Amino acid sequence: AAGGLFQTLTSGGSANAATAAGAPAVTPFAVPLPAPKVLAPYRRTSTADYYAVTMSRTSHQILPGTRTDVLTYNGTFPGPTIRARKGRTAVVRQINALDMPASVHLHGGSNPVEHDGGMTDTIAPGRSRTYVYANEQVGATLWTHDHAHHMESEHVYRGLSGLYLLGDKAEDALGLPSGRYEVPLILRDAQFDAAGRMVYTMDDAENRTTILVNGAPWPYMKVEARKYRFRMLNSCNLRIFILCLNDGSQVTQIGSDGGLLPAPAATPVLVLSPGERADFVVDFSKYAPGTQLTLQNMLGPGPTELVGQIMRFDVGEKSPDTSRVPDVLTTLPALPKPAVERSFELRMDEPGTGDKAYINGKTFDAGRIDTNIKWGDTEVWTVTNTSTTIPHNFHTHLVQFRILERDGQPVYPAEAGLKDTVLLFPGQTARLQLTFDTHKGVYPYHCHMIDHSAMGMMAQMKIS
Ligand code: C2O
Ligand code: CU
Ligand code: CU
Repeated sequence: AAGGLFQTLTSGGSANAATAAGAPAVTPFAVPLPAPKVLAPYRRTSTADYYAVTMSRTSHQILPGTRTDVLTYNGTFPGPTIRARKGRTAVVRQINALDMPASVHLHGGSNPVEHDGGMTDTIAPGRSRTYVYANEQVGATLWTHDHAHHMESEHVYRGLSGLYLLGDKAEDALGLPSGRYEVPLILRDAQFDAAGRMVYTMDDAENRTTILVNGAPWPYMKVEARKYRFRMLNSCNLRIFILCLNDGSQVTQIGSDGGLLPAPAATPVLVLSPGERADFVVDFSKYAPGTQLTLQNMLGPGPTELVGQIMRFDVGEKSPDTSRVPDVLTTLPALPKPAVERSFELRMDEPGTGDKAYINGKTFDAGRIDTNIKWGDTEVWTVTNTSTTIPHNFHTHLVQFRILERDGQPVYPAEAGLKDTVLLFPGQTARLQLTFDTHKGVYPYHCHMIDHSAMGMMAQMKIS
C-alpha cells in the first residue's frame, strides 16, 4: 500500500519544469513573482468597507509569449486580495458577467447562510449579489472562491480564486513583518496545451504539472536579507504540497487556516493540501547576499522525480529589520465539553473503477440533510480516510475546528491552531472538535480536493 500511496502522491507528468506533452516549455525562475492586486473599497463608512467585483472571462499572460483564457474576479489572475479588518463589515457586490451561474464562497469565514456562497445559491449570468461579511472572527488567511455546484472545480481551476486577508489589532501589536515584507503566495498547478490553453479534465492530477505562484510559472523573488512573512494558500484542486527550502533549513510557522498558532513552530516542512493555509516567517538574514534558495515540493511533480520546484528566493543586501516573532502569538479558546460524537468515512472508487466519491457511503444530495446539529453544541468528529491509495481532506463551512489527535497521536504544533481543512492520507483518522455557536442553517462539509467534492464527496449539516 505504501508504494500505491507514494505513486498516487507523486504521479504526474514527466518533466520537471516543462509542462505536459506539447505545452510550451517554461524556464523556471525566469519571471518575477507577481503580487496579487489589492482590491480598494469604493466606499468606506465608519463601520464598513464596500467593494465591487465583476466576474468575467478574459485572457491573461501566464506562460511567456502567449495569452490564456481564464475566468477572473475583476480581470486579474488570480483574483484580487481583499484586506479586511476584524470588526469592520465588508460588503462585496459580485457581478456575474460570465455566461454561467456562479457562487462566491468565503472559505474559512463564519457567515450567515445567505452570505456563505452555497452550491445551489448561485448568481445567474447577468445578475449580481451582495455578500456581507461581518468579520467577527480573529484575523486569518481566508480565501474567496467559486462554489457553483458541479462547476466549482472547473471554475476555481480556471481562475475564480482570490485571497481574503483578515487582520486584527492583536495581530498588529505583535510586530510581525508587514507592509512589503508580508507577501501572499498563492500556489496552484495547471495543465496547458500546445496553444497555451488551460486544460481541465476532471480528476486528472497527473497532467497538471505547471506550478504557478500568484499566477506565474515557477517565479523568482528578490528578497532583502531580513525577515519576511508569507501568507500561503494551496489553491490547487487536487495537489498536495510538502514544501521545504533546498538547504534544509527550518521556517517558522506562525499561523494556519483560521488564524495564528498559540506559539511559533519551527519546522523543516510545510504540508498543505488543497484549501489549507500556512502563515510563516523566513529569516533571510542568515544568508550571504547573492544566495539563491529554492522552495521545493517533496511530492512531485512526476512519477520519477522526488522533488519538484516551486519558486526561488534571491537574497540581496541586509536591510534594517525591526519586526519580530514573539514567543506567544495568541491564546486559543478553551475546548468545551463535547455533547455529541460522530464518525465520518471518506472513500472513493479507486482509479479506473468509477467516478463516484462518498462520505459515509453516500454521494452528495442537495435535498438531503446528513447531519442534524443542535445550535450551541460542541461535537467531536472522527474522520477516517478509508481509501487505500487516494488522499482526501475534510473541510467544514461555518466553523473553525481543532484537531484533537491524529491516529491517536497528538498533532504537530503546526496543526494546533484553528483549522477548517484537515488532510487525511489513506488509512488516516483525525479527531476534530467543533462548536456550533455562531449561525444556524444548512451548510456543507466536503473533501476539498474539489474534483472529489464535484464527484460527490460532500454532505450537508443543519444547525438548528
Ligand atoms: Cu473552500 Cu466548500 O469550500
Ligand atoms: Cu469553505
Ligand atoms: Cu477527496
